[in-house]
Amino acid sequence: MILVTGGAGYIGSHCVKSLMKKGYEVAVLDNLSRGHRDAVLTPHFFEGSIGDASLLSKIFSSSSKKISAVMHFSAWTYVGESVEKPAEYYQNNVAQTLALLTAMRDHGIKQFIFSSTCATYGDVQKIPITEDTPIGPLNPYGHSKRMVELILADFDRAYGMKHCIFRYFNAAGADPEGQLAERHDPETHLIPIVLQVASGTRSHVSIFGTDYPTPDGTCIRDYIHVNDLSDAHILGIEYLEAGKPSNIFNLGSETGFSVREVIKMCEQVTGKKVPVKEAARRAGDAPRLVADSTRAKTVLGWKTKLSDIQTIVKTAWASMKP
Ligand code: UFG
Repeated sequence: MILVTGGAGYIGSHCVKSLMKKGYEVAVLDNLSRGHRDAVLTPHFFEGSIGDASLLSKIFSSSSKKISAVMHFSAWTYVGESVEKPAEYYQNNVAQTLALLTAMRDHGIKQFIFSSTCATYGDVQKIPITEDTPIGPLNPYGHSKRMVELILADFDRAYGMKHCIFRYFNAAGADPEGQLAERHDPETHLIPIVLQVASGTRSHVSIFGTDYPTPDGTCIRDYIHVNDLSDAHILGIEYLEAGKPSNIFNLGSETGFSVREVIKMCEQVTGKKVPVKEAARRAGDAPRLVADSTRAKTVLGWKTKLSDIQTIVKTAWASMKP
């Protein structure tokens, strides 16, 4: 059985669905502070904290449902909030993860899949970004993810715990079957915000910065469909099950779209006009982040299936309809 932490959240819930479709038995551990109980698709649900040693001991000691691997999605993920609340970010994202990893070590569980982020790279000089691009997170959120990456390397050396670190680019889109959606509160991500404008629940979208050194002056990002991320996680489990060494993989579509291009695609898909207001740059935004995912493709055999920008927007839009 695979334990998925944060399985009530956006990416975690999609991954649980993909794992179950593949025939894996899945348990979810989530404290529901930011996730949704109705997004948990497995009957094996533990409500609680990933830092709760006695709960972890109970989960990991079960002889009927032996946990072989942990996929770790639970984390706080707002860059701006992390700058204001570093204590909470290091507590939630680092200290609690260390407690989880320590419990895994104590129970001899040796496979770990970690949701990391392109925010670990920081201010990159060269695009596309490979796994060897120099690291340099710019905020506590990025630091917290990088710290866990370093802990994982040390746990591998000392305890033989193997990991796949997945550095996601911009996760987007939703379950094409319409069962799951992206539900953040507050919502800060571009595509859901633009679609909320299209659906009439928001008046306009602010474009944060129109003077970037990009063709249309707005930031370029690499949007990757959440189901393609799930596929990578399944390949990651198979990779670790085959006894392969710990590794780090970028997960992106390798194609960049500007904020204006995303808004245009949302208008095309929804058939609605999206009013925009040009606004100041948002602190900490890099002009351009695009992945080189060659390693995931060659080592894991990963192929993206839904990550063209139109399919991303279509599935996100369909998931928002009442
Ligand atoms: N943007 C707007 N208006 C909005 C919202 C976003 O112009 O209302 C712009 C942003 O400035 C950025 C682009 O749209 O240029 C994408 O912004 P998102 O907030 O959707 O995504 P980010 O690229 O900021 O964030 C992603 C992940 C984070 C991760 C970060 C690393 O969602 O978890 O990349 O940089 F930390």
